[in-house]
Amino acid sequence: MHMPIPFLQSRLAVLIVGVLAGGALAGPDTPPSAATTDPAVLATPAPPVPPTLTTNASVDAPGLLNVVAYGPEFWSGSAPIGDAGFATLQSWGVKTVLSVDGAAPDTERANTFGMRYVHLPIGYDGFDDTRKLQLVRAVRDLPRPIYIHCHHGKHRSAGAAATIAASLGWLTPDAALARMKISGTAPNYTGLYACAASASILSAATIDQASTEFPSVTRPNGIVEAMLAIDESNDRLAAIERAGWKTPADHADLVPVAEAATLADHLRILAEAPQTAARPQSFRDLLAKSHAIAQRIEDALDTVPIADRARLSTDLQALQSTCKDCHARERNERRSTRPADPSQSAVQQTHDAP
Ligand code: HEC
Repeated sequence: MHMPIPFLQSRLAVLIVGVLAGGALAGPDTPPSAATTDPAVLATPAPPVPPTLTTNASVDAPGLLNVVAYGPEFWSGSAPIGDAGFATLQSWGVKTVLSVDGAAPDTERANTFGMRYVHLPIGYDGFDDTRKLQLVRAVRDLPRPIYIHCHHGKHRSAGAAATIAASLGWLTPDAALARMKISGTAPNYTGLYACAASASILSAATIDQASTEFPSVTRPNGIVEAMLAIDESNDRLAAIERAGWKTPADHADLVPVAEAATLADHLRILAEAPQTAARPQSFRDLLAKSHAIAQRIEDALDTVPIADRARLSTDLQALQSTCKDCHARERNERRSTRPADPSQSAVQQTHDAP
């Protein structure tokens, strides 16, 4: 128990230095503009090596998280973070970046690094055959290497990459499902797993039916569409709550964590949308708060056993208070600044029933 003082002091010093260095290296999320001065980037001497189909763990590289190979020149992972992320992709020779996230991609930065962006967003509950064919055709026809990403690179990009790889015959459906587990796709994303599990090799003629239009930005919907989607997710989450925080018996299609993730995603995308930057700070704070609570519910549904989920109702109530607060404030603000706004009545309606 009793250690000599000098020993303790040196242990402490090592600890403190370690904590400082660790803190500086790990850092918080680096804003894109500061990426090139990120010590994590500057301190990386050798260029990172991309993972292959024999790499059985996900890989983090400067500006990229959770990278997993789904084909010889085909990787899935997080959205590239600033210049560092695109520089890493460039060092891997990536020519095409394919986003399945809802947020509008940073096409300008990609172009600076000589890459083409293609944006084909998908949901947490999977995607239909039209979207599947488009994704498969994009990866078959566009210049490779190709990097596919969503936000975290765990669920949606993995589900899409697995389905594409199985459809092109690069992986058997079983191998593709195994790769999704390496990406960390949670088992309760049943829609995404179903897409990959049901994928089989598609003929060239079938793939040729897909559109050759590969948009670089599929514009996120405006605030009204976002709110309608948020409202739907909120209703479904309320039904899940009534069923004891699990899939309701009369709604076998509802996957609790996927609903919470969808809600969190809509709120995040709205928070990041350019038109939100022009709103007052109070609006953005409420949106951030709303998103943080939805994210907390999503995380809990992923980890907390059903028996312990009752406390999530407190979070859901807090979330619904942010709906009411924002609608009330927004309405008051409009009364003083934009009295003739025709959508005022829509907000008024939702104040009573969020
Ligand atoms: C940070 C502010 C903010 C938050 C948080 C917010 N809303 Fe809204 N909501 C708005 C604004 C602004 C409008 C009006 C949009 C317009 O008409 O331009 C709106 C409109 C709506 C509408 C009406 C859409 C239509 O048909 O015109 C619904 C429904 C709605 N919100 C539901 C919700 C729900 C449910 C939540 C919480 C889970 C929520 N909102 C959270 C700002 C917010």
